[in-house]
Amino acid sequence: MADDVKDPERMDKLVSLCKRRGFVFPSSEIYGGINGFWDYGPYGSRMKRAVENLWWHEMVETRDNVEGLDSTIICHPRVWKASGHLDQFSDLMTDCRKCKARYRVDQMEDPTTCPACGSHDLTEPREFNLMMKTYVGPVFDEEHTAYLRAETCQPIFVDFHSVRVATRQKLPFGIAQIGKAFRNEINPRNFTFRSREFTQMEMEFFCDGEEGMEWFEYWKQQRINFYRKQLKFTDDFFRIYVHEKLAHYAKAAIDIEVQFPFGWGELEGVHHRGTWDLTRHSEFSGENLEYVDHDNQRKLMPTVIETSVGLDRMMLAILSRAYDEDKAATAKEGMEEDVRIVLHLPPKVAPIQAAVLPLSKKLMENAEKLNSELLHYFRTETDVTGSIGKRYRRQDEIGTPFCLTYDFESGTDNSVTVRNRDTMKQERVNLTQLRDYLEKAIEA
Ligand code: GAP
Repeated sequence: MADDVKDPERMDKLVSLCKRRGFVFPSSEIYGGINGFWDYGPYGSRMKRAVENLWWHEMVETRDNVEGLDSTIICHPRVWKASGHLDQFSDLMTDCRKCKARYRVDQMEDPTTCPACGSHDLTEPREFNLMMKTYVGPVFDEEHTAYLRAETCQPIFVDFHSVRVATRQKLPFGIAQIGKAFRNEINPRNFTFRSREFTQMEMEFFCDGEEGMEWFEYWKQQRINFYRKQLKFTDDFFRIYVHEKLAHYAKAAIDIEVQFPFGWGELEGVHHRGTWDLTRHSEFSGENLEYVDHDNQRKLMPTVIETSVGLDRMMLAILSRAYDEDKAATAKEGMEEDVRIVLHLPPKVAPIQAAVLPLSKKLMENAEKLNSELLHYFRTETDVTGSIGKRYRRQDEIGTPFCLTYDFESGTDNSVTVRNRDTMKQERVNLTQLRDYLEKAIEA
């Protein structure tokens, strides 16, 4: 297993690149920002959408036994009573009386000492519920209190019966959802890793309890395969953490952890949740959510296997892994700067998959024409400003895997020069072959 490598400088550089190139920056920055909230700029939102689509395609569109759901962020408050969030979804926090800083007790090295000012004058640890509160309707009182969902899976359990009836699915089958979740984290930190508003991608797989562990192993492997095949994660970058302490209803749980610049951190959880969720919602709603197995003439409460990952964390993992400073490469392309900053993003999720670079402004019209054709199939842009070398660097920084140079020959030989971000090799490709060439290279 790889060591826990902490590299705060690399993290700072990544954060600064993300802001400079419009991937991610603090929300409401002109007002000083708001802690734990992040906006995705033009490149970030393209990439985020690509990652989300990759997950959805993998988990829903390519399977006939997983259905999709798009539920509301605010649901009936009793949903959160049944799920246990209102009573138990809390962290212990303490305040420093001297410098007024607030901490999560489990994140303090020494819970008796303030990490900021060293004071021992701390308040008694107390429970702090992480649910974000709001009011529904014009009256702001307890009766009208509602909560922003803290996880996207609860509406999946609540809608289980409706989805099953509408789709006529039989066990085993899954329901997946991508959407916003909100947690009033005491200490948002590590860039987008721990935010107060974030997107989750969750899939709940409903099965017969007797087959629960088989399905748990299956989904664990599916998710590992996803990271290996689709995002090209290697064994030094991710590892599996097996939970030993389990919730009373759970049979097994693992986390997929990755090597962030601040050390190993949880990216995704795969959990065997038993029959807990559907049983609780049956009890609290009065609706029997049991499944009737007509083939075997029996009723059963389905067991749930969950795969749960934060989209923002997946973005951060991909970006952390992709960030590179390539010192050897600069001489190759005749550039003067000492380091080439490059994001080795998997082409499938790169915000720009191919950039069309006309060698001269005079060729801009032709380049734009080519770009508008490619835009139907790929995420592309044109860039005409500065030398070709400078443009390569700009594209390297945003992780563009292929730069297509349209030169003075292109009009006659109907070809462009394709420069590969990772090998820096160049090859001449005929425009009639270009789409096929790029499709294969992106899929590889
Ligand atoms: N339904 C199970 C559940 O929500 P969780 O471990 O609390 O489990 C699942 O969250 C995933 O959601 C995490 O593995 C992480 O990727 C993401 N996540 C959780 N809290 C987050 C936060 N404050 N900021 C960003 N992502 C978060």
